Amino acid sequence: MVVTYSDLRSKTVLVTGGSRGIGAQTARAFAAQGARVCVVARDRSALDTVVAGITSAGGAAIAATADVTDAAALVRVREQVEAELGAVDVLGAFAGGQGAPVPTVELTEERWREVLDAELTSTFLTIQTFLPSMLERRAGSILTMSSSAGRQPSQANLAYGVAKAGVGMLTRTLAAEIGPYGVRINAIAPSSIRTEKVAARMPPAVQEQVAAMHPLHRLGTTDDVAQVALFLASDAAGWLTGLTIDVAGGRITSS
Ligand SMILES: NC(=O)c1ccc[n+]([C@@H]2O[C@H](COP(=O)([O-])OP(=O)(O)OC[C@H]3O[C@@H](n4cnc5c(N)ncnc54)[C@H](OP(=O)(O)O)[C@@H]3O)[C@@H](O)[C@H]2O)c1
Repeated sequence: MVVTYSDLRSKTVLVTGGSRGIGAQTARAFAAQGARVCVVARDRSALDTVVAGITSAGGAAIAATADVTDAAALVRVREQVEAELGAVDVLGAFAGGQGAPVPTVELTEERWREVLDAELTSTFLTIQTFLPSMLERRAGSILTMSSSAGRQPSQANLAYGVAKAGVGMLTRTLAAEIGPYGVRINAIAPSSIRTEKVAARMPPAVQEQVAAMHPLHRLGTTDDVAQVALFLASDAAGWLTGLTIDVAGGRITSS
């Protein structure tokens, strides 16, 4: 079923982590709604592939290469997207994905800092880069990327769970600050999404075991997440802010 959000047509949407996985599918979903999309990541050729897919389907997209832990690089992305597509209306701060399990005694200080940077500081820096223009225009919708690992203890490494829990609190706290300006922010907390990376790295038997741990008895798809992103960004969710939505096939233990 394809849901159309007419207010998303012609919006400028920027998705970090847009070179693959959840971010790429979310960019495709926004483009299919008629939005102009900028995908951001480090891998230029992967970004170009996503842009080519969107444009060949009749959509409008550009790519911007940046490491989202680098504030100066994010400023360059903002300058590029504003020049080429206009000010960002919808910001998806989705880059991340450093959840691979590591026993805590083997989690080095360097790795702890890297994961906090990649998942949490990057979210802060991305928002700080694009928020001033939204506040000035008194409009905008921000989507952040938490995880089931930030909602309850999991097998992901400790730094990842802590960072993703931090994304949830960043979202709740900032919602109160920016709500009076008409800017909304909501987090998505997926569990076990079958991205290209998961499909390649997780043996099929393990995928089946993980699927069975979810009440809906399957892994999530990148489109399960993208559809929630569309809704949260749209005017249909105009009274929602500060939430974390579990896109988790019913595998939820916290409210
Ligand atoms: N898949 C799941 O089951 C799941 C569950 C819960 C939460 N999540 C979260 O959902 C988000 C997307 O995950 P995914 O599974 O789609 O991951 P993925 O397939 O590994 O993709 C990660 C994306 O983030 C980008 N990225 C990572 N670090 C970056 C950096 N420093 N600067 C710029 N781009 C960066 C990657 O691009 P480049 O490598 O090209 O830079 C890529 O586009 C992540 O935040 C992840 O933690 C995923």
